[in-house]
Amino acid sequence: MEMSEADRSAGGLGVFELTDKLRRAAYLENQLIRQSCGWFLRIKKYELRHRIGYHIWTHAEHVKWINERLGFLRGGKSSVSLEPALIRFVEMVINAPNEYAFLRGTYLVLKKSLLRFYQETARDCDPAANAYDLRMINRIIPEIEEQMLWVDQILAEDPNPDVSIQWESSLSVALNSIGGIEATAARNDFVEEPAGYQRFSPPDHLLFDERISDKPLMPHDEKTSLPYEDALVEQFRIFFNEIYAAGILASILYDAFDHDMSAEFIHDFTRHFWDECRHSEFGAVRLKELGQEPDRVNQKLFRNSQSMPLLHKVCYLTLVLEPHYMPRKKPRFREYETAGDARSQLFADHDWSDEINHVRLGKDWLDKLLSDDARSIEQLKDETRAILARLNPDENLTLSPF
Ligand SMILES: [Fe+2]
Ligand SMILES: [Fe+2]
Repeated sequence: MEMSEADRSAGGLGVFELTDKLRRAAYLENQLIRQSCGWFLRIKKYELRHRIGYHIWTHAEHVKWINERLGFLRGGKSSVSLEPALIRFVEMVINAPNEYAFLRGTYLVLKKSLLRFYQETARDCDPAANAYDLRMINRIIPEIEEQMLWVDQILAEDPNPDVSIQWESSLSVALNSIGGIEATAARNDFVEEPAGYQRFSPPDHLLFDERISDKPLMPHDEKTSLPYEDALVEQFRIFFNEIYAAGILASILYDAFDHDMSAEFIHDFTRHFWDECRHSEFGAVRLKELGQEPDRVNQKLFRNSQSMPLLHKVCYLTLVLEPHYMPRKKPRFREYETAGDARSQLFADHDWSDEINHVRLGKDWLDKLLSDDARSIEQLKDETRAILARLNPDENLTLSPF
């Protein structure tokens, strides 16, 4: 007999049923972080990168909320209760033939199914027994709905839609064949790879479209002798260039899942990642206001990081690079204040505040990660500098090309 809406909500979700649903959701939200961070390195339009950075942060927040709830429900570990066929399906999504296909697979198959899954779960909730869950899911749903509207606009720009539409439909067929996110029809002989499957690997430099080239930025000392307006343009080029830091963090997060890093690590570094996306966006916004277009990124710092183990990448960014740039923050803020340039000051203010947290959190995390390790933080920094010296044998290590 078909259940009416009233019967369904009258049933509510018991603890076992609810935890099963929340574990699935947490796994999928985590995979959306990992896979989107991987493709963040490859997606060529910087505007897409900035926006995807915002979306990745929403997934990290969702994971945090869901994990907190699972803790109260004695819900266990998210991924160990999942069907291998579902895991196998989800892991295929990253292996898209191109960036637009990845967006289609991720947003129109994975996220759309997740959205439906949340909507159905909300509908099944009892307003009293599942009040916590209902409130949480009703905060998640609009964030994903907004992302679905965004991607529709972006996909209209796909220069080669046949490839990505084919990819999307193969993934839909595959997901349907296992019975959707709940994997109600999952079998262990599910092996089919969709047409266009291309094993994902992170690139050694950030890919960009023809608008952005790998050009040097003006060294800091030179900027200080420029007239105010010219120095401002150079400074906001540096902000835009922070896409390199977002890239290092995306690669840290992409790797973090293979190294079994904790949910807290993923959350903190996703926050850091999002900050750097915003700082780069500050650059794009202000450059346009100043009549310029972003046209360059210096890839050197990102390239350096790609030869490093995860631990050294964290050390490189948070204890070598970020402290190196820190002394510039306060004078810059004051300079904009003195000039009455409130707009530039706004961005410098937020950047300064965020960076203080990055260095602090980086230090806290490295302390934790080294707690079981004979090396001190100083030794880790020395190892990181030794990698830099090996990678750049002809340069003295002032560390900063700008
Ligand atoms: Fe930054
Ligand atoms: Fe930073």
